[in-house]
Amino acid sequence: MTTPGEARGGYEKFFTGGLHTLHASSTREEIEECYDKWADAYDKDLMSAGCVKHEPMVRVFDEAIKIAMPSKPKCQVRIMDMGSGTGLLGVELNKRGYTNVDALDVTQKMLDVSREKGVYTKFICAHLTEARTPGIEDGDYNAIISSGVVTAAYGHIRPPAFYEMMRVISDGGVIYFNVRTKEIPDFRPSMKELEDKGLWTLIKEEQVPHYNIEDPALPKSTTVFAFQVHHKERHAI
Ligand SMILES: C[S@@+](CC[C@H](N)C(=O)[O-])C[C@H]1O[C@@H](n2cnc3c(N)ncnc32)[C@H](O)[C@@H]1O
Repeated sequence: MTTPGEARGGYEKFFTGGLHTLHASSTREEIEECYDKWADAYDKDLMSAGCVKHEPMVRVFDEAIKIAMPSKPKCQVRIMDMGSGTGLLGVELNKRGYTNVDALDVTQKMLDVSREKGVYTKFICAHLTEARTPGIEDGDYNAIISSGVVTAAYGHIRPPAFYEMMRVISDGGVIYFNVRTKEIPDFRPSMKELEDKGLWTLIKEEQVPHYNIEDPALPKSTTVFAFQVHHKERHAI
């Protein structure tokens, strides 16, 4: 298991928003405060750090969607970008023809910045946890995509939140996210437990490029996971 210090160290050289002040037990308010301060500089900071993950992440997402729902037109795939931030995934999704995308984020300022990119249909300010997210019905989405959010070291998402992610996905839909490679042991047991229960099936696990600048704090790659969800009691897509 990663200790919080191990998983978080080093980013402060590149990121001006105080990400390094967050930790495994950070509260919703602390997360909002960090990203609220960071929202305006976020895209510039990621670019200066050589962050390249968004395009390859969406390429692998596209492959997973083709496996899970081969006959569904891309523009009809209802997608939630969970922890959408300033909308960098939304831009890449749009380029690949996924135009039915809602943004969900706990930080209103990040949602405001993402709105300017013109790639999302709806904006939902909510904190995704294991609890029911108000305003989102069972099976509302065909897919969740999420980048930089499934991380326990910063207190963003903890494994029990997988159940809430599954609730909002239709039968046969896809849950897709990245986990920093050193944090995988923190999530692997829960991912396996859901697979053992027959609630989802792993359809993709791959490394994609993350940062292209030489620095020990900046991993070269990140690991993406795509799961297909099975709701025995619900209709297929
Ligand atoms: C590292 S940023 C990633 C932003 C974007 N997905 C990207 O790849 O550039 C994490 C984002 O997730 C949001 N966030 C963190 N925890 C969250 C939660 N539990 N529910 C909803 N949003 C969350 C933060 O406000 C922030 O905008």
